[in-house]
Amino acid sequence: MYVYLNNKIVPLSDARVSVFDHGFLYGDGIYETMRVYDGVVFMLDEHIERLYRSASLIGLNIPKRIADIKISIYETLKANSLTNAYVRLTISRGYGPIGLDPDLCKEPTFVVITNEFKSYPRSYYEEGIKLTIASVRRNSKEALNPQIKSLNFLNNILAKIEAKQVDAYEAIMLNVSGHLAEGTISNIFFMKDGILCTPSIECGILDGITRALVIDLALKNGLEVKEGRFAPEELYMASEVFITNTTMEVMPVSSIDKTEFKAGEISKLLLKKYRQEVNGYVKEKKAEGPSLWE
Ligand code: PDD
Repeated sequence: MYVYLNNKIVPLSDARVSVFDHGFLYGDGIYETMRVYDGVVFMLDEHIERLYRSASLIGLNIPKRIADIKISIYETLKANSLTNAYVRLTISRGYGPIGLDPDLCKEPTFVVITNEFKSYPRSYYEEGIKLTIASVRRNSKEALNPQIKSLNFLNNILAKIEAKQVDAYEAIMLNVSGHLAEGTISNIFFMKDGILCTPSIECGILDGITRALVIDLALKNGLEVKEGRFAPEELYMASEVFITNTTMEVMPVSSIDKTEFKAGEISKLLLKKYRQEVNGYVKEKKAEGPSLWE
């Protein structure tokens, strides 16, 4: 396996980061996860845009131009001969002495990891996955805004531990005022009274790229969509529930704690539309010319 580290591709064994890296010491940094279909990074511009937004929210200067970031991703995919993959792009504050001051670090550390994408089991899409509502609350946006896709993941990891304890695949977190927020690595949607509902960004969530596309697809397909503040009880009364993220796409939910759901028609419809969108995107990018590495 090859990894892109700072300015070059190196074998995994040489891809080393200092113990003084502030990403390691303090979780001071940001990241993006992308999915590659048939050699094309899906929604690359949107991911890079969010990366820059996260960077700006933590006062981090990304040491690369957008075009160079794209090249670094495609070069890493090429070095690993990958066409169906996931990409994890990480930028930490960089190497510096102990101390919180970001100015102690002269140069951010830039890493691109790519790996083969292993499909989720079919049953996850056909029957759905188990969720739990975690007792740990999502970081409040006034404390550590979930819109920053930061390396600081302990909040989500604490919720994930709760999920594992009850054999659930994903944990949904409420915000500090007790309204639905999001999963540890996903956004949540549910159907109630024929309306597709999802917590609004104001609830303190990551503005998922899949979430935005799914809302768009739902509207285009004649569904009414409500972004708002929802009590967890509303979720239990839903006719169907699904979660979204870059790698899972649209994944139906079979239970939340003791309440069971069917992988419903709306989840299936939106998954189908999402995959059609992916296919269209890939075709369009390929028609634009050879991919960046060729
Ligand atoms: N996670 N909410 C959180 C907290 C997330 O970490 C993610 C993504 C999402 C969904 O965002 P998107 O649709 O842009 O993937 C929502 C990625 C997949 C990860 O952590 O690797």
